[in-house]
Amino acid sequence: MKGNDFLSIGQLSSDQLQLLLDTAARLKADWQAGKREQPLAGKSLGMLFQKPSLRTRVSFEVAMRQLGGYALYLSPNEVQMGQRESTADVARVLSRYVDCIMARVFRHADVEELARWASVPVINGLSDMSHPCQALGDILTIREKKGKLAGLTLAFIGDGDNNVAHSLLTAAVKLGMNFAVASPPDYQPSTSYVARAKDIAQASGSRIAVYEDPRRAVAGADVVYTDVWTSMGYESETDHRLAAFRPYQVNAALLALAKPDAIVMHDLPAHRGEEITDDMIDGPQSAVFDQAENRLHAQKAVLYLILGAGGV
Ligand code: CP
Ligand code: NVA
Repeated sequence: MKGNDFLSIGQLSSDQLQLLLDTAARLKADWQAGKREQPLAGKSLGMLFQKPSLRTRVSFEVAMRQLGGYALYLSPNEVQMGQRESTADVARVLSRYVDCIMARVFRHADVEELARWASVPVINGLSDMSHPCQALGDILTIREKKGKLAGLTLAFIGDGDNNVAHSLLTAAVKLGMNFAVASPPDYQPSTSYVARAKDIAQASGSRIAVYEDPRRAVAGADVVYTDVWTSMGYESETDHRLAAFRPYQVNAALLALAKPDAIVMHDLPAHRGEEITDDMIDGPQSAVFDQAENRLHAQKAVLYLILGAGGV
């Protein structure tokens, strides 16, 4: 993976995905055991943000520090990518300064444009279409909690047409997990993602099911996952979305239909009382804060492999 961009889960083979998970687990265990190797000593990461962030910004910055390198935060107002100067010029200039670029953008095409022009690897820190670093941390969390991935069923409830749902769908089928999603008719996963996932599922043995009724998706699930109803960039649709998604709240009544040992996940930030209730995030089945932590460990693996420190 050395020198590769990381723009979507879809670009990874199942073996690469496994390598990332194994490397993340190893780096996490080493860090927790007090091992302080610095394989990325002197390496730099430029972090371009067009949208707000807590987890992505802090976990990438800390990840670089823990690996011996450092990160620079570049705010939306500062760079004004595509306005103050072209995306291609931003990519070419940053490539002369830093060893890797992480970008959070509105349009997926912008992170692709950055990657096209950059001479250093580009990592997608969230676009409208995908959030691959989130999916990686989430899958790591599921593997830790359940001890396996293949054969488990992940139920995604809510906006199936968003970045997080797309990346989870793709990761799940590459790892032999079943994926059930329940969304209102206008918010079901993009047909192109579902078509590609179905092709992969044929080889991996995964099952994909798209429902309108959240109870059908959650029935017998091992993981119940939700995300905000209005993603960043779609704020003008908030009222319409609130009405459409109202029946899709993850709460105790819905979770009761999943397996008794099901875990509850949310990528955060959450709109408590909308897509998820307090007792779900704060309750005994919640994996929410472990998954937030695992962003750090998963991204350390991404940086470690892309910046050439070798596998596992
Ligand atoms: N889950 C996630 O990406 O959080 P931030 O938007 O805070 O980075
Ligand atoms: N789907 C959400 C994820 C935030 C981390 C958004 O794009 O706003």
